[in-house]
Amino acid sequence: MIKITVDDNEIETEENISILQACLNNGIYIPNLCYMSDMKEPPGACRLCFVEVEGFSQPVPSCIIKVKEGMIIKTDTEQVKKLQRTAFELLLSVHNVDCKNCPANGKCELQRIAKFLHFGLKLKKLDAIERDVKSDDSHPYLEYHPDKCVLCGKCVFVCQRKNGRPLLAFAGRGLDTIISFFGSDEDAKGLCKNCSLCVDICPVGAITKKLTVAA
Ligand code: FES
Repeated sequence: MIKITVDDNEIETEENISILQACLNNGIYIPNLCYMSDMKEPPGACRLCFVEVEGFSQPVPSCIIKVKEGMIIKTDTEQVKKLQRTAFELLLSVHNVDCKNCPANGKCELQRIAKFLHFGLKLKKLDAIERDVKSDDSHPYLEYHPDKCVLCGKCVFVCQRKNGRPLLAFAGRGLDTIISFFGSDEDAKGLCKNCSLCVDICPVGAITKKLTVAA
């Protein structure tokens, strides 16, 4: 175990884990969407988990940087909050905010982060970006709603971990990036029939189970 200081409090933590994991293990929340503790190489994609670390000239993504003995970390400075709010607003600008009609309402990670950042779910500085994306119901058991997806990649990760190969993948580029189902229909029928890992891990309700499954 090593000692680090977070927001002026000394805590003990395992070595060789990320700052984010050390903080979460000690009950210190840092907004995050794309991190899972067993990812060997976290993608660092959502840009929500910034913290300041003494000795670094700029805030750093806490899911990427590992703890070191004596590290001094600040999770709630003005600069950190500004970066987190900016990253959050960018996510919201491509998110169809329709909580009342969303299956994730009440357990959505965006709602939790909005509350934490005192930001709300309405855009402040940016305009909403209309994306030319349509829901995908081509899978026998699942539906995908790209206008809700935050592209965290957790669905791809858990599917790969379970099956040794993912049946979902990122497709497209830039603002047109989506998650796409692939693999044969037989794959989907065999591997997905009794599995809902991707649905359960999705932080925002972008992947849902079909209510009616075709025979
Ligand atoms: S949790 Fe660190 S960048 Fe997403």
